[in-house]
Amino acid sequence: MDHVESFLASLKRCLAQPDFMLDFYGLFMARSDEIRERFAKTNFERQTRVLAESLWVMAVAAQAPKESPAWGDLPRLANMHSRNQLDIRPELYDDWLDCLVQAAGRHDPLFSPELEEAWRKTMAVGIAYMRSKY
Ligand code: HEM
Repeated sequence: MDHVESFLASLKRCLAQPDFMLDFYGLFMARSDEIRERFAKTNFERQTRVLAESLWVMAVAAQAPKESPAWGDLPRLANMHSRNQLDIRPELYDDWLDCLVQAAGRHDPLFSPELEEAWRKTMAVGIAYMRSKY
């Protein structure tokens, strides 16, 4: 299995646990006041659902040619996070990924250092793209 396939299998195990996404946001918001304030008015019922969907899209993007139709919502998402809208500083993606991997480690019973690498490698493509559109 390549790293994207390993990631997808792990993501599926994580999402089978109801608190995975909420746990991620708990970790992420505990990271700094700056991050917590960004989500002060967020509806987490919706946010956890749309983030889960975007993680599948990030995995597809990692396998498809840059900005091909398979990238789906990513251009819109990148634009939304850019300085013109949400203004998410590029550095914040490191915190985002660390917390995501930490949450996966808590919720995937089969998690391992190899799987952590698969998560990081798979997400790197979409993150680099989001940063490049800042
Ligand atoms: C590649 C990494 C990321 C992905 C895939 C992602 C995904 C998403 C998605 C799917 C949404 C909802 C879009 C919609 O409403 O249509 C969203 C909103 C948001 N994201 Fe991200 N995000 C990422 C990184 C970050 C980072 C690093 C921050 C930093 C704090 C952040 C802060 C936010 C905020 C504040 C919102 C709006 C929440 C609200 O509506 O109240 N995101 N993100």
